[in-house]
Amino acid sequence: MEREELSHLAFETQIIHAGHSFDPTTNALASPIYQTATFGFETVEDMDAAWDKLGYLYTREGNPTLIALEEKLAALEGGEAAVTAASGIGAITSALYAILEKGGHLLCAKGLFFHSNILMNDFLSKLGVDVSFADFQDLEDVKRNLKPNTKLLFLETPTNPKLGVVDVRAVSALAKEHGCLLMVDSTFAPPPIQRALELGADLVVHSLTKYINGHGDALGGGVIGPKHLIEKIKYPSMPCFTGAALSPFNAWLIMRGMATLDLRVRRHCENALAIAKFLQSSPYVEKVIYPALPGDAGYELCQKQMNGLGGGIVAVWLKEEVKGLARRAADYKLCNNTKVITIATSLGEANTLIQVENDDMIRIAVGLENAADLIEDLRQALEAI
Ligand SMILES: Cc1ncc(COP(=O)(O)O)c(C=O)c1O
Repeated sequence: MEREELSHLAFETQIIHAGHSFDPTTNALASPIYQTATFGFETVEDMDAAWDKLGYLYTREGNPTLIALEEKLAALEGGEAAVTAASGIGAITSALYAILEKGGHLLCAKGLFFHSNILMNDFLSKLGVDVSFADFQDLEDVKRNLKPNTKLLFLETPTNPKLGVVDVRAVSALAKEHGCLLMVDSTFAPPPIQRALELGADLVVHSLTKYINGHGDALGGGVIGPKHLIEKIKYPSMPCFTGAALSPFNAWLIMRGMATLDLRVRRHCENALAIAKFLQSSPYVEKVIYPALPGDAGYELCQKQMNGLGGGIVAVWLKEEVKGLARRAADYKLCNNTKVITIATSLGEANTLIQVENDDMIRIAVGLENAADLIEDLRQALEAI
């Protein structure tokens, strides 16, 4: 179905139907994977014609499987267009390279995912981009750090890993007033949790590796927004020239996962809330951060901009001393004691994952298992410290 026909339908319907039609040669209902590096032509004239109308010539520049995924991503976030990349970081890099230039100022939120932080701090600054950081939970701090050359504000909400929730509407109003763009990394809160473009962001970026694929078997990234900005990222610049083009097979896996996004995300959120409540009541736990927990610093914004859904990540600090062990040693024991939950870094997949972060925080990326089984696993792991 065409985008216009779909536009009045709910996003769950749109992401199943967008970018999808019967395969023109076989009528196959499932989208084919165009697993090819290049495209062949009968004549040089045919190749020239494909070149002239930006047809398919070489997969780093474009591929029908990637286009199908891009249509679905645009429908997911209610944007005009989308561009895919080989990973979330590939998508962020491609967008930043396309939008920023030497001397322009990028104002980032403090507390970003650490690879994003390194990208902004080390690599972009080396290219002459003026990069600085502000506390985006404090609008006065954002205002104080705006400069005449500020071109872009970049934030995550909720942040990885400490789950700080940023008021996207309020930051977007500041960006508009200042005449700069706002890009939001929504990896931790895909629809049905939040739709950042509707909250006023100019661009939204996702690590598709996480909830959107949902099965932990492919890396991918995507940026969604108005056509003129996406085209700036797509042609003639990135990810063709960062080399961060997504593979057709990964695009296909991500599309397959995406069809069940709404169901999965709601289950991640239900499980995470149950775990957050259990941990909050444990005598071994000092602090739990989870935006849908009443009393959490992010609770009100979670109701306002996240449909009351807190996401799939729970941040936990054990007491400073647990059974005679210092917090960090107890963190290690807790993680080592889990049986159903796996020690691994990532999120948004069926398996529940646990890891010890800096600052002696434990991050639980809650999966799709039965909540009672997960709680029992954590209970026994805490008792066995
Ligand atoms: C918030 C956030 N943004 C971006 C990324 C990068 O995504 P990828 O690993 O797909 O490059 C991650 C990865 O964990 C993330 O958590």
